[in-house]
Amino acid sequence: MAILPLVIAPDERLLKPSKNIEKVTDDVRAFIRDMFDTMYAHQGIGLAAVQVGVHHNIIVVDVAQREGAHEPLAFINPEIISSSEDDSVFKEGCLSFPDQFSDVTRPASITVRYLNEQGVEKTLEADGILATCLQHEIDHTKGIVFVDHISKMKRDMILRKLIKAKRLGLISEYPENEDKAAL
Ligand code: NI
Repeated sequence: MAILPLVIAPDERLLKPSKNIEKVTDDVRAFIRDMFDTMYAHQGIGLAAVQVGVHHNIIVVDVAQREGAHEPLAFINPEIISSSEDDSVFKEGCLSFPDQFSDVTRPASITVRYLNEQGVEKTLEADGILATCLQHEIDHTKGIVFVDHISKMKRDMILRKLIKAKRLGLISEYPENEDKAAL
């Protein structure tokens, strides 16, 4: 078990796209276990490899964590192959943006193609919070963060708060919040 240090915004590493995994090896599976350990340690419902400073196209999610359940899902080289016309709005947060939340509008349902931990190609249809979470994490693999979806004024305000919190040494532990989810 290893809890990896998180990359906290603003940080150039979060803006760099990740590379696809060529072969799903034991090393990849071990790294995925560390990603889950890190996500659970911070009560997150999703994590992309880039958030621990690794530019590999891997994401992990567990949206059931909000209800105290345990449904870990790992996606290697995930790709959205279709999105619904209808949108949904969700108050998003991010482990790389501690204590910052904002409403984000995204397609309400999506289909994702990916490799599972055995390297087998799969597709998954998702709606609700899982659809939101997957879109948020797949954005991370492209160097896109949730504040890129909100107004420049709100984004600048959030980034200023994080810069200040970093300077004062206030960013340490991610706060628990039942009503909001950190992806
Ligand atoms: Ni995030």
